[in-house]
Amino acid sequence: MAKQEDQFKKVISHAKEYGYIFPSSEIYDGLSAVYDYGQNGVELKRNIREYWWKAMVQLHDNIVGIDASIFMHPTTWKASGHVDAFNDPLIDNKDSKKRYRADVLVEDYVAKIEGKIEKEVAKAERRFGESFDKAQFLSTNPRVLKYQEEANGILKRLGQSLEREDLADVKALIEELEIADPETGSRNWTDVKQFNLMFGTKLGASAESAIDLYLRPETAQGIFVNFLNVQKSGRMKIPFGIAQTGKAFRNEIVARQFIFRMREFEQMEMQYFIKPGTQKEWYEYWKEARLKWHHSLGLGEDNYRFHDHEKLAHYADAAADIEFRFPFGFKELEGIHSRTDFDLGSHEKFSNKKLQYFDPEENKSYVPYVLETSIGLDRMFLAVFSSALQEEELENGTTRTVLKIPAVLAPTKAAILPLVKKDGLPEIAKKIVDELKWDFNVDYDEKDAVGRRYRRQDAAGTPFCITVDHETLENNTVTIRHRDTMEQSRVKIEDLKSIISKETDMRYWLQKCEVTA
Ligand code: GAP
Repeated sequence: MAKQEDQFKKVISHAKEYGYIFPSSEIYDGLSAVYDYGQNGVELKRNIREYWWKAMVQLHDNIVGIDASIFMHPTTWKASGHVDAFNDPLIDNKDSKKRYRADVLVEDYVAKIEGKIEKEVAKAERRFGESFDKAQFLSTNPRVLKYQEEANGILKRLGQSLEREDLADVKALIEELEIADPETGSRNWTDVKQFNLMFGTKLGASAESAIDLYLRPETAQGIFVNFLNVQKSGRMKIPFGIAQTGKAFRNEIVARQFIFRMREFEQMEMQYFIKPGTQKEWYEYWKEARLKWHHSLGLGEDNYRFHDHEKLAHYADAAADIEFRFPFGFKELEGIHSRTDFDLGSHEKFSNKKLQYFDPEENKSYVPYVLETSIGLDRMFLAVFSSALQEEELENGTTRTVLKIPAVLAPTKAAILPLVKKDGLPEIAKKIVDELKWDFNVDYDEKDAVGRRYRRQDAAGTPFCITVDHETLENNTVTIRHRDTMEQSRVKIEDLKSIISKETDMRYWLQKCEVTA
């Protein structure tokens, strides 16, 4: 646990030191759970967004994008169920006066049991070496089975209690498990209460005429209310999808863990409109397609797993999370939700407008069902960044800090370094920058010895360093150094563009996930 915490602290300080993420309004001591993206962070975020957009919109001829407003008519949130049901169960500790999400306290308890399972696996791996069969071990080892049964039992009871809104039983569960305040160890808990997560604001020039609004807690509703506009103006035929990226706001009870749980964050959501009765097959399709998208980035297939929901949101008939192994354990990264006709049906009722599709094959109109994929951009950022940050022992006994961000997402693709600041080398390096900058974000760096510059670029996540030396003057070649392997080779200046393209082009990466339907 301490090792995990140390690793997480390193992630946070590295993100700041290298211009990825800063606490918001830091000169005023920051604002809880609100963060700003720096010069490198904004590029990584933009690249992740584009990688998602290309996979979802550009590569699907039946998915289009929109950009709806953050402010929406207040009835939207009545219809969507958020006014009545967008709550989290909170619990206060009477001694420490700290507030927690009751379900998260229980989930963290379960994560500790899962940690014990991982320890057993690691022990057995060391004992059996090459012949170790992890799947068999997990399904037969009595101690692991006992832990697994315990974890499943707790999650099942939590899910059922939340489903029934039986908050007294959630408190009873916390007491039975003897869960203590993680910061103080006190077990003196209040009752569990529901807390609505939406931020309210006002719209209007005077206090009398102002109307109450909410900042949207999800981007999805902007898609639902535009369903007919897009379907009609785009002459879309079912099945079709509408995608959107944008800010969402939630007054989270507990907003720790850096950018994992923020109060202002960005979502990348897609609503896929389908014929009623086909939701099961589309649910499976999108679960697989989204997992492939994640795998295409090469962050390690072992770092992902599905978690099927016991407690379904008010709109869903099936739901699963894609969880990622963050520095603090497996947690939700993306949700795949079968939303039935709940949203469109409810907007029909509240707006008195028909939100139906005339199906020429069936020769009838119906309210489509919806399959949703919803991923947090900031969480994806944290997944990429935290798994990329590595300390490597080198052969010469030193260590290097390297940020192995997939080259396709790296903020800067190449750094151009003159070996020395004289003999015309800076001029050639700048000429290379001027040529490459039309296609890639590139950096020019002439300060310090070249070895130190390599380390600086490794830590910033730049996949290529291109060094201009005296041989360049003779034959127009440079060395190109690969961040991950540290291998260097000599190449012609005129070939640089195609070499960098080959490894950073989205086409090369996205082809791996065969997302085209
Ligand atoms: N439209 C469905 C929806 O919003 P959700 O599971 O509440 O579903 C979807 O959120 C995704 O948004 C999550 O999987 C997560 O990646 C991201 N997300 C949710 N709350 C967040 C928060 N407070 N901070 C950062 N990301 C968040």
